[in-house]
Amino acid sequence: AGSGKFFVGGNWKCNGTKDSITKLVSDLNSASLEADVDVVVSPPFVYIDQVKSSLSDRIEISGQNSWVGKGGAFTGEISVEQLKDIGCKWVILGHSERRHVIGEVDEFIGKKAAYALSEGLGVIACIGEKLEEREAGKTFDVCFQQLKAFADAVPSWDKVVVAYEPVWAIGTGKVASPQQAQEVHVAVRDWLKKNVSEEVASKTRIIYGGSVNGGNCAELAKEEDIDGFLVGGASLKGPEFATIVNSVT
Ligand code: G3P
Repeated sequence: AGSGKFFVGGNWKCNGTKDSITKLVSDLNSASLEADVDVVVSPPFVYIDQVKSSLSDRIEISGQNSWVGKGGAFTGEISVEQLKDIGCKWVILGHSERRHVIGEVDEFIGKKAAYALSEGLGVIACIGEKLEEREAGKTFDVCFQQLKAFADAVPSWDKVVVAYEPVWAIGTGKVASPQQAQEVHVAVRDWLKKNVSEEVASKTRIIYGGSVNGGNCAELAKEEDIDGFLVGGASLKGPEFATIVNSVT
């Protein structure tokens, strides 16, 4: 870890019930979390209100997606204004599941990021290559193209956290090695330096996601350019998520 305050997000994805979330919140409330870490959880939309009213204020809440502009006649969508109204401070955008399962494309994701930032939400901006892209030596090209779509759209990076999530590592149990993650994080920082500014490159937190768990987080957190984590499966277990938060070095 190196740039800024360590940042750990728990992306609950489309998991949970009222009961399981009651238990998870209670485990999170009783966990002891290092003070110098930004901690954020991202419940499914329908449970955000339940989480907001029961979770300690120590932990902030994120949406898992948001509509690209002001709300209105957009069936099935959730607006940035609604996320704010219900107490969210963040939104995850460009997650690989939104890109590759739902079909969201770079330009649309960039517009979403710009709109969310303009309304004061922080953005967890996800990028990452698929296995075949890595095997074809295209990891940097893919990540830089996704990053550029964010950079072209956002007016300021103050409230942006970049999440590098290699698609082959998500939900597979195949975590990137600390060296593999560090290599991409350095490249992302370097890209920001050349294409945005030196200041943005040094201040922007670049977090890693993809099969992070209580057992592998400490090694990853030692890397200079890994400034935190975006955790899926392991964030559904309160004590394990706390271990990951506390892996800050
Ligand atoms: O956004 C977090 C994520 O995609 C990683 O998921 O289950 O591999 O930790 P998981």
